[in-house]
Amino acid sequence: MGTHLLEIIYLVASVTFILGLKYLGNPSTARKGNLMAAFGMGLAIFGTIFLYTDAAGNHLKNLPFIFGGLLVGSIVGWIAAKKVQMTAMPEMVSLFNGMGGACAMLISVIEFNHLTSGFSMETYAQGGYSFFSKLPKGQLLTIIIGLVIGSVSFAGSIVAWGKLSGKVKDRSFKLQQFINIGLLLVIVALSSFTIMGSSEETIELFYAVLILSLLYGVLFVMPIGGADMPVVISLLNSFTGVAAASGGFLYDNKVMLIGGVLVGSAGTLLTIVMCKAMNRSLTNVLIGNFGGGAASTASGSTIQGSIKEVTASDAAILMKYAKKVIVVPGYGLAVAQAQHVVHELEEILEKEGVEVKYAIHPVAGRMPGHMNVLLAESNVSYDKLVEMEEINPEFSTTDVVLVVGANDVVNPAAKTDPSSPIYGMPILEVESAAQVIVNKRSMKAGYAGIENELFFKPKTSMLFGDAKKALTQLVSEIKSLG
Ligand code: TAP
Repeated sequence: MGTHLLEIIYLVASVTFILGLKYLGNPSTARKGNLMAAFGMGLAIFGTIFLYTDAAGNHLKNLPFIFGGLLVGSIVGWIAAKKVQMTAMPEMVSLFNGMGGACAMLISVIEFNHLTSGFSMETYAQGGYSFFSKLPKGQLLTIIIGLVIGSVSFAGSIVAWGKLSGKVKDRSFKLQQFINIGLLLVIVALSSFTIMGSSEETIELFYAVLILSLLYGVLFVMPIGGADMPVVISLLNSFTGVAAASGGFLYDNKVMLIGGVLVGSAGTLLTIVMCKAMNRSLTNVLIGNFGGGAASTASGSTIQGSIKEVTASDAAILMKYAKKVIVVPGYGLAVAQAQHVVHELEEILEKEGVEVKYAIHPVAGRMPGHMNVLLAESNVSYDKLVEMEEINPEFSTTDVVLVVGANDVVNPAAKTDPSSPIYGMPILEVESAAQVIVNKRSMKAGYAGIENELFFKPKTSMLFGDAKKALTQLVSEIKSLG
């Protein structure tokens, strides 16, 4: 009876994971999706604790340890999630993802110990080390997959967390990529020997695979540029999913398998979508050295023409008397923490009868959904956030576009200059609007480290200054116009 009930619970939990993922696809339903999947996970965990029985009909033991772990984990997770700043979200995701990888790694270590615990002086006396070659190969393969992927994901995620929080610096050395490939080949070779069990040192080989996989995780993430971290975190996230799915195989646990497969495939899809939206191949992200962060400077301008500056009071007049204004938020909005003041600007303009929308580029900012999360924090209505494909045709009927701290996502070179590193990346086509006002602090380049011809166009005016200060000034100028 208990087993059947548990199967039904697993089925319900799996459905909540799938629906949860679906709801997470839209900002207006994301909260519901998150709660739904969390409820399903809680159901699966408590169902397993109270209803699971092994082949001999025994229930789970060590309940005080299990509940102790659950309590400590829930408290730490709750506090971390409550305290985290929006800009530190990628770091937290990375750290939590690392914990998933560590779980998969530990499961493999524990199950390998179970499998080899029968090795003793007696079995040795009977057949020497042939004990190892008789171990079930399928089970060993699953254990090794969980071990390697879980360890790489754990070590890689911790390094990614360290880099994003500024505790670890980017480090690469000559021939690093060759050393990484060599290391990977050694891991594959040692794993094969462990599975075949033909060596006396099978147990030692297993732990060598563990240590080398941890080392590979560190070396794999270490040289990747800080700004490329979101793509890497998404990739590591998919690794953790695969490692968890191998745990599902090992325990013949369907909900673990489905959960792992969903995380693995969602992580892989997100990685692909991010690479596509940045018009870069994954190999390029992993071994390339694109941009070098938002600090790159556009020195020695190659673009002909001059820029035109606008004051906050002139920009205020343009916007107050416009019929339609589209705001293009970018990474600078997050840096300046100007999400609240941009919402205030939107409300004031709407009171004046101006239609205001936000144009959301899929890779604006530095993490997936960065602009959505930022604007949701200041209670901007979800229906005002319009995706790139949908908003692009609207620019031609727009009076003023206000670009706030965005650069690459509005750079026309992506369409016109085949030699540009962002050539082919879809952009927000703000040039079709009647007027473009660009707010940023200087003429410095964005993440891709390249100049932007948009700033030199006749219909573009530059409103220099920190986004929060500039928008606050804009708001007070509009108010003073009466
Ligand atoms: P960027 O191209 O990076 O440009 C941001 C601009 O904001 C900079 O040019 C900077 O110019 C300005 N800025 C910085 N601080 C500011 C402040 N306090 N006030 C006003 N402006 C400020 O940003 P974007 O247009 O959002 O494009 C995102 C880029 O990141 C793309 O190249 C994308 O491929 C890449 N990327 C995205 C992701 C994800 S998943 N979103 C992940 C990795 C990489 P000043 O210094 O002159 O102010």
